[in-house]
Amino acid sequence: MPTLRLGDDAPDFTAETTEGTVNFHDWKGDSWAVLFSHPKDFTPVCTTELGRVAALKDEWDKRNVKVIGISVDTSESHEGWAQDIKDVTGSELNFPLISDPDKKVADLYDMIQPNASDTMTVRSVFIIGPDNKLKLSLTYPASTGRNFDEILRVIDSLQLTAKYKVATPVDWKDGEDVIITGAVSNEDAEAQFPGYTTVKPYLRTTPQPGK
Ligand code: BEZ
Repeated sequence: MPTLRLGDDAPDFTAETTEGTVNFHDWKGDSWAVLFSHPKDFTPVCTTELGRVAALKDEWDKRNVKVIGISVDTSESHEGWAQDIKDVTGSELNFPLISDPDKKVADLYDMIQPNASDTMTVRSVFIIGPDNKLKLSLTYPASTGRNFDEILRVIDSLQLTAKYKVATPVDWKDGEDVIITGAVSNEDAEAQFPGYTTVKPYLRTTPQPGK
């Protein structure tokens, strides 16, 4: 299976999860989705990550994002671990966790990277758009917990740039000024973003549209 690249179709699959059998594309519908892998159940970094993703439920919902986790452990193991996640983080698992003991989904999404580990998945993150195309992928090693505030920040940028002809600058956060893309002429920029600022001819900024 070749590596998934941005703009590719996110492969469909059917898998067992903590919320029953899920067909990925049917489950996702026309929402945004975050598919993320964790290397192993009953491990410390993963426990903190899953609690955090659960605690962010309102943030996912606000953005019309469905989240789904995966590891090569079994559903039985996931269910046992859910209690630990609640004990440690105070958050109840509120999204499906895929069990992938035969590594079907892990292989489809290239989540097993043998020079890191040939038995566990790396920490992959895939953000998938309403059109089922891949919008972002990240790969972290097992030893580094991910920053889910960053995932939300990227989703804010992706959702904004899908709607307006803008891009978001370094360290941008929702509500801050954005960049008008080069595809927009100065004349159109004035019509669409009146009073925009020209920092350089190729760097034009404007308050975030739609705010
Ligand atoms: C962890 O979640 O802490 C972890 C999992 C697999 C390998 C190393 C760390």
